[in-house]
Amino acid sequence: MEKEKPGDITINTLKKEIKVRIYRYDPEKNIEYYQIFKIPKEMKVIDIIEYINKKYNTNIAIRYYCKIGKCRACYVLLNNKLVLSCQTFVTEDSIIKPYKKAIRDLVV
Ligand code: FES
Repeated sequence: MEKEKPGDITINTLKKEIKVRIYRYDPEKNIEYYQIFKIPKEMKVIDIIEYINKKYNTNIAIRYYCKIGKCRACYVLLNNKLVLSCQTFVTEDSIIKPYKKAIRDLVV
């Protein structure tokens, strides 16, 4: 196996999809679980939720209004760090969950 040299492009850089794990909570059944999805690289949290809901018809609940970082309604935990989902990009193997007890999925 050849060693990487400066300027080499790794396989990871060329990957077009990444995996994310998203917290789900169904209040009617009172069950919580995580779902794993493959999503395109270089998307913000809010955009991947919309992408997943459209592609997989999952109806993951998340609260947001402005999508420009002003209303502060879209906070989630991304890898245990509090972030605005409309301003933060997801990376490989990210875990997205609510920042406090959810009333449904990512909505608190
Ligand atoms: S949607 Fe308004 S701050 Fe993110």
